[in-house]
Amino acid sequence: TGYFTFDPGFMATASCESKITFIDGDKGELLHRGYPIDQLATQSNFLEVAYLLLNGELPNKDEYATFERNITRHTMLHEQLTKFFTGFRRDAHPMAVMVGVVGAMSAFYHDSTDINDPAHRMIASHRLIAKVPTIAAMAYKYSVGQPFVYPRNDLGYAENFLHMMFSVPCETYEVNPVLAKAMDRILILHADHEQNASTSTVRLAGSSGANPFACIAAGIACLWGPAHGGANEAVIKMLEEIGSADRIGEFVKRAKDKDDPFRLMGFGHRVYKNFDPRATIMRQTCHEVLGELGIKDEPLLDIAMKLEKIALEDEYFVERKLYPNVDFYSGIILRAMGIPTSLFTVLFAVARTVGWVAQWKEMIEDPTQKIGRPRQLYTGAAARDYVAINAR
Ligand code: CMC
Repeated sequence: TGYFTFDPGFMATASCESKITFIDGDKGELLHRGYPIDQLATQSNFLEVAYLLLNGELPNKDEYATFERNITRHTMLHEQLTKFFTGFRRDAHPMAVMVGVVGAMSAFYHDSTDINDPAHRMIASHRLIAKVPTIAAMAYKYSVGQPFVYPRNDLGYAENFLHMMFSVPCETYEVNPVLAKAMDRILILHADHEQNASTSTVRLAGSSGANPFACIAAGIACLWGPAHGGANEAVIKMLEEIGSADRIGEFVKRAKDKDDPFRLMGFGHRVYKNFDPRATIMRQTCHEVLGELGIKDEPLLDIAMKLEKIALEDEYFVERKLYPNVDFYSGIILRAMGIPTSLFTVLFAVARTVGWVAQWKEMIEDPTQKIGRPRQLYTGAAARDYVAINAR
């Protein structure tokens, strides 16, 4: 049967070759197509980063304008797809709605499902990047009982998302440019992260030749978990549970107790063993957003900063090289912007759609690509004879 390595959790297995994202976990370095994340987060914008991830190079002016048009022409959702939302309970978790509605796209867009046709692949990529924010905002609007707000193509990507989230038909809503910029930066910081669990899921699903929209729905399902994208929601819940700075010690103690399943959410990373460069930019953005909104005493930020300081000086966290990750500060920013906690992971999904699509496309276009098919170490019963039910 041949030999294979046993690597639970894929700690030491490279599943593919990729030219998209480079991470040096020891140095705390993250590059997209060679460009450092801090430069992209502060000098670029999300759509430009999306183009870069998909196509390998930064766009020139004309390429950018064409790409922007290609995305905005697809921001509307097929009207029949809007009916899917009303099939869900209003208290459904928006990630459940995302899995369902993005998966349902596979039943609608027949001109973008032939994975062997480059034009189909391109339209599928554009459709997903364009429509996922619309679906996310609709999931929110449905949950609060407000009418859906249609996209506005004269607005930037992040601006339009805030418009679809917070506009109501009876009032004028002006998007705050500082908040739109911060949202755009949050999207850039989450856009791709090489072979994380959800991206590997998308690649594995796609490796069988499955419908691209269904593959992205699989990625969304994987992202939902608290060890992955669900951590941003879990961080806020944890900070709220801690409640006041004098209780931090108690929670740090619990996180170190091996008999207690509690972990410090937003701490630790499979790859980063120095610091997460995304967390550094996120912390800075957090201060900028709270400053813009005039929030001086945000109790959760106060707890978060003290918790970070205590943990970073604690032997347990130092020894295991556990640092705040991208999710540690993002929730505080999103909360200050008025985004409900249950939508935090949805926002992660909006951003990561770009990475998923770029990685899916890279895989399909790789001539050496094979179906993903891990092996196992069988630990079950040896061969034995069937026993009739009366004789058991
Ligand atoms: N709090 C307390 N202990 C921890 C934590 C934590 N947050 N993270 C890891 N450890 C301990 C773990 O118990 C283990 O200790 P020991 O060696 O004594 O058994 C050691 O550190 C190594 O942890 P691991 O679980 O083997 O590491 P992993 O690479 O499998 O897990 C992780 C990485 C991110 C799932 C984990 O650090 C974690 O659960 N963190 C909290 C959840 C979180 O913030 N997730 C978001 C990740 S970043 C966003 C994304 O890309 O999804």
